[in-house]
Amino acid sequence: MNLAHLHLLLNHFPTIGMMVGLVVLIMAIAAKSDDLKRASLVIFFFIALLSIPTFATGTAAQLALARTPEVSTAMIQTHETAALVALGVMELTGALAWLALWQYRRLSRLPQATLMAVLLLGLATFGLMTRAANIGGEIRHPEIRTSPNLSGATVESAPAKPPLARVIGDGMANLKWGWPASETVHFIGLSLLLGVVLLVDLRMLGFMKGIPFSTLHRLLPWGVLGFGVNVVTGILFFIGAPQDFYVTNTVFIWKLALILVAGANALYFTVFEQAWVLGAGDTPPMAAKVAAASGILMWVGVIFCGQMLPFFGHSF
Ligand code: HEM
Repeated sequence: MNLAHLHLLLNHFPTIGMMVGLVVLIMAIAAKSDDLKRASLVIFFFIALLSIPTFATGTAAQLALARTPEVSTAMIQTHETAALVALGVMELTGALAWLALWQYRRLSRLPQATLMAVLLLGLATFGLMTRAANIGGEIRHPEIRTSPNLSGATVESAPAKPPLARVIGDGMANLKWGWPASETVHFIGLSLLLGVVLLVDLRMLGFMKGIPFSTLHRLLPWGVLGFGVNVVTGILFFIGAPQDFYVTNTVFIWKLALILVAGANALYFTVFEQAWVLGAGDTPPMAAKVAAASGILMWVGVIFCGQMLPFFGHSF
C-alpha cells in the first residue's frame, strides 16, 4: 500500500463525515440536546483534522499518475484547487467547532451564535467538499464528467487560466520573501502552540499545583490559534514545493500522523470533565497524566519531524 492508496481511502471521510456531523447537529438542535450538539462538534473537529492528510495524500496520487498518459494534469490541478478551497473552509469549521466546545466549559451552555456559525460553515464545507470529491472522481471517469471546465476535457487540454492552488503554489516558489515570511510565521505559531501545551500538560502532570485548570483553560484558544497559523503556513509550504518534496519523505508522513493524534489528544482538555474540575492544589487523575505526557511527547515529535525534514529525505 502507498500514499495514493491512502488518498483513495481517506477521500471519502471529508464528505461522508461532514454529512454525518451535519445530520447529528440538525437532530441535536431539533431535540435541544446539548450532548448531541457537542458530539456533532467533536465530529467536525475530527473531520477537520483528517482532511489535512486527505489533502496531502492527493499529491502522492498525482505523483503516482505522473506517467499515466490517459490522465490530464490540468484536471488534477482543477481538483487540487477545489480541494484547497474546501480544505480552507473545513479548517475554519473545525476551529469554530472547537471554540464552541471551549465556550461550553466556560459558560455551561453552547452559545447560539457560534453554533449557527458552525452550522452555516458546515453546510458550505459539505457543498465544497462534495464538489472537490466529484471533480476528483471525474479525473479517471470521463463518463461522469459534468464540471463546466472539465466536460469535454482531454488529456492535453489545459485550463483557460492557472487554477488558484497553482497560482499560490507558484507564488510561494517564486516570490523571494514567500518562503522566509511563511517560515517566520510558522515559527511564531509553533511557539504559541508549544507554550500553551507545556503549561497545560505540566500542570496535568502535577507541576504548578497552585494553578486551577480553569485558569489555564483560558490559554487554550491561544494554542489553537498557533495550531491554525501553522496549518495555514504548512499548507502554503506544501503547495509551494515540488510534488515529490514532502510526500516521498517518511519523516513528513510521521509528522502528519503525529499532528493527527496530537490534535485529537488536545480535545481531552476541552471535552472531558476530569481536567475541568481540577482546582488549586488538586492532584490530577491518572488519565489526565497519561494524556498530558503523551501530548508533550507527540508535539515534540511533530517538531522533531519538522526539523528533520532536511536531513532525512530531500526536502530542502
Ligand atoms: C480534502 C481534499 C481532497 C478530497 C476530499 C479529494 C477527493 C478525491 C476523490 C473523491 C477522488 C476520486 C477517487 C475515485 O476515483 O475513486 C480523488 C481522486 C484524486 N485526487 Fe483527490 N481529493 C483531495 C485532495 C487532492 C489533492 C490536493 C490532490 C493533488 C493535487 C489530489 C489528487 C487526486 C488524484 C491525482 C486523484 C485520482 C486518483 C486515481 O484515480 O488514481 N486530491 N480525490
